[in-house]
Amino acid sequence: MFYREIPSSGEPLPALGMGCMRLPETPDGKVDEAAAVALIRAAIDGGATYIDTAWPYHDGESERIVGLALADGYRERAFLATKLPSWKVESREDMDRYLDEQLRRLGTDHLDAYLVHALTRRRWNRLWDLEVDTFLDEAKADGRIRYAGFSFHDDLSTFRTIVDAYAWDLCQVQYNYLDEHYQAGTEGIRYAAKKGLAVVVMEPLRGGLLGRRPPAEVEEIFAAAPVRRSPAEWGLRWVLDHSEVTTVLSGMGTTEELDENLRVAATVRPGTLSPEEHRVVERVRKVYEARLAVPCTGCHYCMPCPCKVNIPECFAQVNNAALYDDPAYAKFFYRSLLGEGGAASWCTECGMCLSLCPQGIEIPAVLKKAVALFEDEMDR
Ligand SMILES: NC(=O)c1ccc[n+]([C@@H]2O[C@H](COP(=O)([O-])OP(=O)(O)OC[C@H]3O[C@@H](n4cnc5c(N)ncnc54)[C@H](OP(=O)(O)O)[C@@H]3O)[C@@H](O)[C@H]2O)c1
Repeated sequence: MFYREIPSSGEPLPALGMGCMRLPETPDGKVDEAAAVALIRAAIDGGATYIDTAWPYHDGESERIVGLALADGYRERAFLATKLPSWKVESREDMDRYLDEQLRRLGTDHLDAYLVHALTRRRWNRLWDLEVDTFLDEAKADGRIRYAGFSFHDDLSTFRTIVDAYAWDLCQVQYNYLDEHYQAGTEGIRYAAKKGLAVVVMEPLRGGLLGRRPPAEVEEIFAAAPVRRSPAEWGLRWVLDHSEVTTVLSGMGTTEELDENLRVAATVRPGTLSPEEHRVVERVRKVYEARLAVPCTGCHYCMPCPCKVNIPECFAQVNNAALYDDPAYAKFFYRSLLGEGGAASWCTECGMCLSLCPQGIEIPAVLKKAVALFEDEMDR
């Protein structure tokens, strides 16, 4: 494993960490506990010791399962991070209450990093008024957390405001070759690094999109590249090439993905991607930009939908139809939602999802596109 440093302390962090938002699941959609525990332990054994979880992941199960994985001596070997569910906090007391409950769920007496989760300007202003800065100072002083940070989904100017507002140790941002100028983006990570924050990257493969079978046009570009790599390796190398990036979190669901990402993280050094390799990524980016219909990363923050629409799956099929020039194939998968429940036409436009989407997607409007693309009059 290649190590980079937390600027505020010089403590080394691994270039790759394990995101526990996409743990392996059983066919009924529950976390496959035995597989998840084995995978988290394999990540730690392989050197990807930064373990990232959060209150809502897997309907609140992720923290408990991470706690199971960290028994038997694994806690001491891990850098454990979880997050304050910022949208649920209504008082200063809530902050202590959530942190204490998370320590209980995780079976530990301290966190290596505690991040204020999914900040937007509105959430930040509210938490600032509730004195989140004092809370973080006190939690550090009493030993419940070692480092304080925030994760982020808003625009660059909000990012700068938050970076400047507190003596953060780290920030967590969405960053991949499609999001170079989105949310914090390249300018944001440069700003954070200059201000002495460790930069932890989430969604390096855009939630999996950049690791899957690419559209034919992209396959051709990769095939003609000077080096042969998988799509995931191109994606991870591009992120790790940035010297501002400290740790890249990937939500790896299989040992094959873990092994590949460990191999990449062990070999990449910042600033080593050649101009020709950058041009390959640039051409691939243009294809995705032209084709992608919805910027959904499948994070499930919008779920559960009160009308039982399976929003991420509806959007995945809208994107598949656009990416692969094969609407019939996407429609075939979409139509299983009609039988099992979750089709877009179940949306009543209640708008509950709108404030939850980190990408700011106009969810009800895009669901209407899914209805138009995939549903017939008889289905509704
Ligand atoms: N704080 C926040 O607001 C926030 C938001 C989002 C995420 N996060 C955290 O950041 C972590 C990382 O984000 P992410 O899970 O979106 O990361 P990601 O790496 O962009 O996406 C993970 C997905 O990429 C695919 N993948 C990973 N390695 C691969 C490989 N070698 N080959 C092919 N496909 C590969 C898998 O998709 P398939 O399942 O399709 O194979 C996996 O589920 C999360 O797990 C979570 O802990 C935080």
